[in-house]
Amino acid sequence: MSMKFQLVTKPLSEVKAEYLVYPLFEGEKCDLKYKAIEDFTKDNPKFGKLFESQTIYLPDFKLLLLGAGKKEKFDFEALQNWAGAAVKQLSKKSKEVSLVAPKGIGLDAEEIGLAIAIGSEIAIYDPAKEYKSQYEGPKLNSLEILVERAERGFLEGIKKGIIESEAINLVRRLGDMPANEMTPTYFLNIAKKIAKENKLKLAVLDEKQAKKKGMGAFVGVAQGSDEPSFMIALEYRGDVKSREKWALVGKGITFDTGGISIKPSDKMHEMKYDMCGAATALGVIAAISKLGLKTNVVATVAVTENLPGSKAQRPGDIVRSYSGKTIEIMNTDAEGRLVLADAIAWANKDFKATKFIDLATLTGAIIVALGDDIAGLFSNNEKLARELLEAAKVRGEKMWQMPLGEDFDDMVKGTMADLENSGHGGSMGWRTASSITGATFIKLSSGIESKPWAHLDIAGVAWDMRSKPFRNVGATGFGVKTLLKLISG
Ligand code: BES
Ligand code: ZN
Ligand code: ZN
Repeated sequence: MSMKFQLVTKPLSEVKAEYLVYPLFEGEKCDLKYKAIEDFTKDNPKFGKLFESQTIYLPDFKLLLLGAGKKEKFDFEALQNWAGAAVKQLSKKSKEVSLVAPKGIGLDAEEIGLAIAIGSEIAIYDPAKEYKSQYEGPKLNSLEILVERAERGFLEGIKKGIIESEAINLVRRLGDMPANEMTPTYFLNIAKKIAKENKLKLAVLDEKQAKKKGMGAFVGVAQGSDEPSFMIALEYRGDVKSREKWALVGKGITFDTGGISIKPSDKMHEMKYDMCGAATALGVIAAISKLGLKTNVVATVAVTENLPGSKAQRPGDIVRSYSGKTIEIMNTDAEGRLVLADAIAWANKDFKATKFIDLATLTGAIIVALGDDIAGLFSNNEKLARELLEAAKVRGEKMWQMPLGEDFDDMVKGTMADLENSGHGGSMGWRTASSITGATFIKLSSGIESKPWAHLDIAGVAWDMRSKPFRNVGATGFGVKTLLKLISG
């Protein structure tokens, strides 16, 4: 359920809500004429750092003075998180809140509406809701936004923001769900529901059908688990005249134990998030349909567990992927690239996609390289890479382009088969440039070498166990905003 947003132009004297949120930029004076505020700002002349907050009890309402940081740095991301911090702080205190939209910033009305709606909806989501027996839910369900002039763009932005944040919170909910509930079958049911609600064409392959079709890389991973596994495709046609078609391809490992090359038990519970790429592809195509974008998109996702059951694939096994390449499995924990190889090839061969973006929590090494806040971007096409980086920058999602040249190809070339699924030949064994060899494997195994393709390694950014002023811990929904910005142009 989304929050209720109302846009108003009334003077502060008419505010009825219990709380009024007011932005204060660093070094700026508060223009509200109340003695209590003047006293406070006089005593705290440096007040105004982003998220710094102070509640002041006034006769008509409680004022939450919320720092907005440096005005020249106040971009889309800052506004989204500023609004989120207000909502998160007040969510359990009050049913209705009024918020004064920051003025004099370099964003148009639509962007302001979009950022405030997304920030608020993200802030109100709490993963503990479903599972804690004594859960005290948020009271807040209505946000009144005070603006100087009620431009149409504000409402347009809010409307889009509700759709975008619905997709973001879907990704978060699916990611945060434990793997005993969020099985491939559960994911399939959600995909079916989304297809129906958004009039998307749905195609599903179970393990038997995938095997018959020749998706040996996907089936090799899937065979280690008793849970049924699925290849799922959702299709949106919003531009029948165009032959262009985006493919959004997602890694959907509902739990990654590593398989026979089993992982250490430390933090293994976090591997329930290994399906965030697939959830993002699903959320984005749902939003694209709700927004009615003039474009064509297919989302293909490979959904399975990676378990070491008695039928599990072994290191040394050789499989044939849907693109025709043979692969020697050197490490069953490098499973994401295997299922992606077939999901990308499916989008290419059966759905005739013309440009490809895959999303995957692919490597631990991308966290070593870029940390917890930056996704790794790999691409065979500079134009696509640039467009992605630009969209990411506008929406405040951090990405960094990593190298991907032919120099790395030898590190995944096979001795027994065409390819090996983990890198080799470097001075640190398979660890050498591990994120790059992962991307290189996808490039060489999926059969789309001549088409524009980008790979987003979201292992570091797909979930965040550090609680933020504007967001609870758990899955983040990273990538939804950027992809929607990119695809909507
Ligand atoms: N799902 C993991 C990657 C991962 C690790 C994501 C930690 C988030 C946090 C992936 O399937 C994996 O295990 N990758 C291996 C690849 C290696 C064996 C070549 C890795 O990164 O260690
Ligand atoms: Zn793995
Ligand atoms: Zn994995």
